[in-house]
Amino acid sequence: MSSLNNLSSWKEIGNHSNKISQKSLNEIFKEDKDRFNKFSIQEKDLLLDFSKNHIDNKMMKLFSQLLVDIDLKGKIHDLFNGEKINTSENRSVLHFLLRGSYTSKTKELYENDVKKGLDKLKLFSKKFQNGELKGYSGKIIKNVINIGIGGSDLGPKMICEALKYYSNRSVNNYFISNVDPSNLSEVLLNVDPKESIFIISSKSFGTIETLKNANVCKNWFYNQSKNSESLKKHFFGVTANTKRAKEFGIEENNIFPIWDWVGGRYSLWSSVGLPIILKIGFENFEMLLNGANEIDNHFREQPFNNNIPVVLGCLGILYNNFHNCETHAIFPYDDYLKYLPMYLQQADMESNGKNISKNSSEVNYNTGPIIWGDVGTNGQHSFFQLIHQGTKKIPCDFIGFVNSNNEKEELHEILLSNMIGQTMALMKGKNGAEVEKELGNKNKYNNYDILKNSKIFKGNKPSNTLLFNKLTPYNLGRLIAIYEHKIFVQGSIWNINSFDQWGVELGKVLSDEVYNKLKNKDKSYIDNSTKGQLDFIEKFRQ
Ligand code: F6P
Repeated sequence: MSSLNNLSSWKEIGNHSNKISQKSLNEIFKEDKDRFNKFSIQEKDLLLDFSKNHIDNKMMKLFSQLLVDIDLKGKIHDLFNGEKINTSENRSVLHFLLRGSYTSKTKELYENDVKKGLDKLKLFSKKFQNGELKGYSGKIIKNVINIGIGGSDLGPKMICEALKYYSNRSVNNYFISNVDPSNLSEVLLNVDPKESIFIISSKSFGTIETLKNANVCKNWFYNQSKNSESLKKHFFGVTANTKRAKEFGIEENNIFPIWDWVGGRYSLWSSVGLPIILKIGFENFEMLLNGANEIDNHFREQPFNNNIPVVLGCLGILYNNFHNCETHAIFPYDDYLKYLPMYLQQADMESNGKNISKNSSEVNYNTGPIIWGDVGTNGQHSFFQLIHQGTKKIPCDFIGFVNSNNEKEELHEILLSNMIGQTMALMKGKNGAEVEKELGNKNKYNNYDILKNSKIFKGNKPSNTLLFNKLTPYNLGRLIAIYEHKIFVQGSIWNINSFDQWGVELGKVLSDEVYNKLKNKDKSYIDNSTKGQLDFIEKFRQ
């Protein structure tokens, strides 16, 4: 494929974007009373309203042409058919098989293995649920401690929190990810080893943070139980590297497999989801998979102009590449989704934070945006100020649920009204005349001009709204799969490999080097700043 910049559809998107940006969102809404119908997608009880964006019919047509030019159809086919699209690691990308999204080719090759893996998880979760899983002292297990980082932490942690309402409240989930001793200490302080299991979750079983934490936990556990045999009842592994997990001391039967074709940040659907299964039960986990499967089918089958991940992907490209937006904000209006922005940071930024194209040349356009966000309404009372009146344009996704899992008087109506009110305010803003009217008689103020100008909102800020019926396992599966495929669409347009992560390697290598220097008090061959820091640590380290 020739460079994106040379495609006429790409250039035309740029030209047309300049043209339509001359009109405000407010103005285009006044001109077109049917805008919501034109620019929204309803998939049963799920709505995407993307009408508050700087787009028109022509823009959507230009994006359709771009998707033909980059052969998105062919790329989706290759993805689902297991072609080795992760070219730098020579791997297929097939995590969606775990939610039953097969082609005839992948079904034949992988279905049996996937089923075996799921059956093992199901059996284990039943034993756990029935109280058959007992610790070395005969006590029932109630603490599930996950040791993992990145994709082996963020997905399970986010979902366990998100689906707390559907969970077994007597099961306590803990997550040890950081190599910071404080993370681990705060968990171990709270648990009785007799009632706890450790799940060491690492696709590679080679991630230093995870292995170091696992070792400390193993020693802590041994010091408490004084019996090495008891490890068998309390230590479990989730990995694609059974050999290393066994060397660590985990029983073969306690190892839950994942496969080479499940990327870390896409792995919550696999055995990495074991903490989720133990918290919400296997049936609810299956609902999560089913919801994601529905979106896989939607993504594969719907025409692009009615395809939620495709539309979201294109809108993101519009702002990232043609409006020079550096960031993209995600605001779930549901407290249970407090870890969603953090989860999506890894999913998106580790996937599309790349500067080398699939042709192995450096790209000459912007790729992945900075992803950030928090739950509403909390964000409204902190950083929303900058979105409304700062100097930066920040496209936002608002995620809401028509019904709450916990209806209490009218709190949910207030929450929803806040969400919708924000999208309106971002779009409409408030002009000088409106502020003047609101302030009334000028003479009442000794600071009229500054007050008036400070109260003006320029508006014209774009946003998407995703509305689901309720936060259920099924709908959460849909939500995550929407973002996964959006990321794929964007990576396909930018012609980058969304499935490797070489950018994290250098830091790992250098931290090993620094660690050795720190240990050996060796300060040779390091830059002056690093030497200064090591000297300082040496002086004050007790
Ligand atoms: O360092 C980045 C990374 O490879 C992530 O992509 C991954 O999710 C995480 O580390 C953990 O890897 P593993 O599951 O192999 O321990």
